[in-house]
This record gives sequence, C-alpha cells and structure tokens, in this order.
Amino acid sequence: MPAADETAARYSESLLAFWAEGGVDAMLLDEAVDRIATGQIAPPRLPERKVVAAPSPARAGQPDISAAVAQARALAAEADSLESLAQTISGFDGCPLKFEGAASRAVVYRGDPKAPVMVIGEGPGQEEDLRGQPFVGRAGQLLDRMLAAAGLDNRVLITNTVFWRPPGNRTPTPSEQAICAPFLERAITLVRPRMLLLAGGASAKAVLKKEEGILSLRGRWFEWRSSDGNLELPALPTLHPAFLLRQPAAKKRAWSDLLTLTERLDRQDRPA
Ligand code: URA
Repeated sequence: MPAADETAARYSESLLAFWAEGGVDAMLLDEAVDRIATGQIAPPRLPERKVVAAPSPARAGQPDISAAVAQARALAAEADSLESLAQTISGFDGCPLKFEGAASRAVVYRGDPKAPVMVIGEGPGQEEDLRGQPFVGRAGQLLDRMLAAAGLDNRVLITNTVFWRPPGNRTPTPSEQAICAPFLERAITLVRPRMLLLAGGASAKAVLKKEEGILSLRGRWFEWRSSDGNLELPALPTLHPAFLLRQPAAKKRAWSDLLTLTERLDRQDRPA
C-alpha cells in the first residue's frame, strides 16, 4: 500500500477508535429512515401462527405492517400475566428492531407489576439493551432520582413504546411503535395502573395518537382508552430525561409535571 494510503488508513482507524471510546457505535442520519418503507429491509418474516384479523391493504408509500400488528395483538391477548407477556415479546419476531441495532434481548419492564403509575418511555438505549431493563442508563438514573424526590420510587412500573433498541438510539418510527403497541396495551391492561406518565414526545404521540410536539403536550392531562374501551386512564406527558440531561434548564418543567402527577395520585388516596 502506498505510504499516503497507509497514513490515511491509520488516521481513519484511530479516529474510529476515538469515537467508539466516546460511545459512538453507529452512523446515523438526522432523520430516522424507515427501511421497511424504502424497501431496504424486507418486512419481518413471521413464524406460522393463526392471524385473527384480516390484514388491511397497505396505504400508498406506507409499509404493510398489518400482519405483524395482527400477530402481536393475537399473541398479546393470550398473555395472562406480565411475566408471560414479557416471554411472548421476547419470542416475537415481527418487529424489525429486533434484527437491527439490538443485541436481540427484549427490554420489557422493571418495577412493581401492581404499581399505581406506569411510566412509558420511547425505546431502550445501549445500556438497557445490554442489561435487559428499561431506563438503567444515565437518563434512567436521572428518572429514578426525580421519581424518588417526588416520592414515587416504589410506586412505578417502567416500560417503553418499543422493546428493542433502535440502532444508534434513534427515535423509534411510528411503524415500529404500531407493531409493539398491542403488547404495550396488554401490559397496561394487565398492570391496571391508576395513571400513565409518558416520557418524551415519541411516547406521548404514539400512546395518545397526537401530532403536537411534547412542549405543547407536557403538563396537560389526557385520557387514554384501551382499544376495547374497557379501561380508561388519565395520562400525563412530560419531558424525556435524556432531553433534561441535554437541557438542564428544562428540569423545572419536568419537576412541575411530576408534582402534578403525585398531587392527583395522593388526592385519590385521601379519604373523602
Ligand atoms: N430512553 C427511553 O426512552 N427508554 C429507556 O428505556 C431508556 C432510555
């Protein structure tokens, strides 16, 4: 190899090692690319199972995720405990995230299965993927400190809108969230918390089916309803702890949201 090429190769290697040392383990574009929609990744191959709902025709330009959603719905309905739901999710091959960035471990929940508050984040990050539990990295540690300060540390169950790490910690796409949604809904109906705390815009928008940004949604109560209409819960969107790590000045707004939530919870606990 000519000397100039060797120097360039060594330079590239040392630059990559420097980035890897700093935790950069994937190359990303500014916008998430839906690789199913662009045809770069084939839609997930689903194991043979009975599908209960007839698949709806794909809308132009949208990936056809209806078979994966129907299968997730059928499997979720069979789970009669949070533990069996977690096992079902681990064995589910319908979400492409499982085969993209994740170390293939499903990250489902941590906390009290009878908790009065269910915290729903966006999706697992690198630390969560490695340890198999949601919110255990830096953002999770901040979340834990905030929950403890609000007296909520033993009163929450924590989960996410998707159960596998999106590559490079990008935001999960609406298709990925839609495929995982039946599992999330089943988790909510099994836990039957008294309220939901939605951490971050991608969680609030997916769970509440809203288009507004998190800065407008946060701090306001919404009603979440299960698809069969049998369960209705108050849901409060708030800022994502990873955002708070980048923008510490926003912590007071998240803190005010947590106080709004505890105030409602404690009000329900007080004898009339
Ligand atoms: N961010 C999330 O939204 N969820 C996690 O589990 C970790 C980081």
